[in-house]
Amino acid sequence: MKDFHINTEIFFGENALDRLSALHFDSALIIADPFVVSSGMITLLTARLDKAHIRYELFTDVVPDPPVEKVISGVAAVMKSKPPCIIGVGGGSAIDTAKAVKKFAGQFDENYTPHLIAIPTTSGTGSEVTRFAVISNPAEGRKYPLVDEELLPDEAILDEVLVKSVPASVTADTGMDVMTHAIEAYVSTENNEFSGALAEKAVEISGQFLIRSYSSCDDTHARRKMHIASCLAGLAFNSASLGLNHGMAHQLGARFHIPHGRANAILLPYIIEYNSGVTLTNRSQKEYPSCVRKYCNLARILGVSNMNEVTTIRALISYLHFLNAEMGIPSKVSEACPKLTETEYMAALDDMAAAALVDNCTATNPRTPTPEDVIEIYRKIW
Ligand SMILES: NC(=O)c1ccc[n+]([C@@H]2O[C@H](COP(=O)([O-])OP(=O)(O)OC[C@H]3O[C@@H](n4cnc5c(N)ncnc54)[C@H](O)[C@@H]3O)[C@@H](O)[C@H]2O)c1
Ligand SMILES: [Fe+2]
Repeated sequence: MKDFHINTEIFFGENALDRLSALHFDSALIIADPFVVSSGMITLLTARLDKAHIRYELFTDVVPDPPVEKVISGVAAVMKSKPPCIIGVGGGSAIDTAKAVKKFAGQFDENYTPHLIAIPTTSGTGSEVTRFAVISNPAEGRKYPLVDEELLPDEAILDEVLVKSVPASVTADTGMDVMTHAIEAYVSTENNEFSGALAEKAVEISGQFLIRSYSSCDDTHARRKMHIASCLAGLAFNSASLGLNHGMAHQLGARFHIPHGRANAILLPYIIEYNSGVTLTNRSQKEYPSCVRKYCNLARILGVSNMNEVTTIRALISYLHFLNAEMGIPSKVSEACPKLTETEYMAALDDMAAAALVDNCTATNPRTPTPEDVIEIYRKIW
């Protein structure tokens, strides 16, 4: 038996933040990306909370790729007053911090079940609608995706006014995270008709609007579309999960601090080549792995469908290389981390491959990788 459900109520479109004025809580803890406060964007939330007579406190000790310690200090902050509502606002890092804080606070006091509202300020992770939260352990150089229904936000608010300020490079990285979520969910072993419909729409919107959104922060229409695509892709992988691309990207983020979306973007063409078995040199075959048909569907949606399966997969791979190049995303790890030496990188591969293989995301990859396969892909992206 399979199950598909969406637990998060989604408010979207112009003035979606007005939802905050309609809340009926006496107090809230806002867990915010420091940028949201330093830029003054926070007043867009607090003015609405004031209107609804909701007291609030701020927790801003949020950093990219949230480490366990920051989650622990967030739990300490929330347990002081146990507000009935927690609002996570920022990129995936702030939202994941808020989700993990809610979950671990509930373990200290099982009667404490605050209402969780996620408000993304990047269009990338889809974390506002997922049961995933990615926490890092800097001492081990590892990132762990926690997967738990308790992590699901009760509400998500998608207001494009919050993504206007996202710089081009972050728009590129996070946009490629959306593309990777949709493609991985689409070919995952857990894919189903519901997740597939959501993934197809996310790919279609990303194909149409990502470069436009990257090219101009004033293109509100494109940014609104990418904000929605990010959420659609989040809903898709919340149901179907992800794959090896994310399993491997988590290690690149944890060890070398490559931004999450950029790590995914670098890997994506190579993962499609690996999963499909289609390389630059092989001939057409009688039969293909089932993911090939799915990749071909996505190629058609992106307008790069070609004569047969082999040429279509090659066209899809070329298109993804093109997207990366067009948006200034490095094509290799050596370019993304100029200070990292080849010797250091190669020495880390055994450990990284072992960690990628046990990452929760890898379990639903359409092709079961061996340690040698993973090391080979890590070598190719150097
Ligand atoms: N929970 C999930 O389902 C899920 C899925 C994918 C990724 N993740 C995790 O999410 C994290 C990445 O999140 P992200 O890609 O959103 O990046 P991020 O949250 O780390 O933010 C990236 C940068 O953008 C800045 N920023 C955020 N909003 C901005 C705005 N409106 N204007 C200008 N700057 C802004 C931040 O201050 C930060 O410097 C990683 O830890 C990743 O592993 C989680
Ligand atoms: Fe991701």
